[in-house]
Amino acid sequence: MKYLIFFCVLFALWQVDAKHLVVGNVSNRVQLANHTTITYNAIPFMKRVKYFFYSQLDNRKIQGIQALDNYYSQSSINITAGGVGYPFVNLRMKSERGRGMSYDIGIYVSEDYTHL
Ligand SMILES: *[C@@H]1O[C@H](CO)[C@@H](O)[C@H](O)[C@H]1NC(C)=O
Ligand SMILES: *[C@@H]1O[C@H](CO)[C@@H](O)[C@H](O)[C@H]1NC(C)=O
Ligand SMILES: *[C@@H]1O[C@H](CO)[C@@H](O)[C@H](O)[C@H]1NC(C)=O
Repeated sequence: MKYLIFFCVLFALWQVDAKHLVVGNVSNRVQLANHTTITYNAIPFMKRVKYFFYSQLDNRKIQGIQALDNYYSQSSINITAGGVGYPFVNLRMKSERGRGMSYDIGIYVSEDYTHL
């Protein structure tokens, strides 16, 4: 599974235009805590703004976050709260005007509990 993700990342990095968000450690002694694909349909002439909130129930801190734009569009994504070093994160996504968006989001935490 980890290798599959790794190759997906490599593949994604070859694509030039899209804006992916990769912060922190997403491969080095970390565990994929949550993997979610979120997709929103296009609304004609509109930009859509959506939020994704994730909270680690056992309070382990997030080590890495990876959000890949599945559509390779001009949508943007930002961290608005939490993130690496926090047990939660809030992501804000904004689509291109009149275009849907789809993000593949992975949240990574440390494998052990020593990083609490
Ligand atoms: C990533 O992992 C390395 C080695 O485990 C560590 O030195 C580094 O501080 C980590 N980076 C982040 C952003 O946690
Ligand atoms: C991942 O996080 C999202 C948002 O917090 C949640 O809806 C979803 O159920 C989680 N998935 C798993 C497998 O824990
Ligand atoms: C959000 O992220 C985009 C790149 O994805 C960046 O250009 C923009 O400045 C960011 N906005 C904020 C408010 O941080």
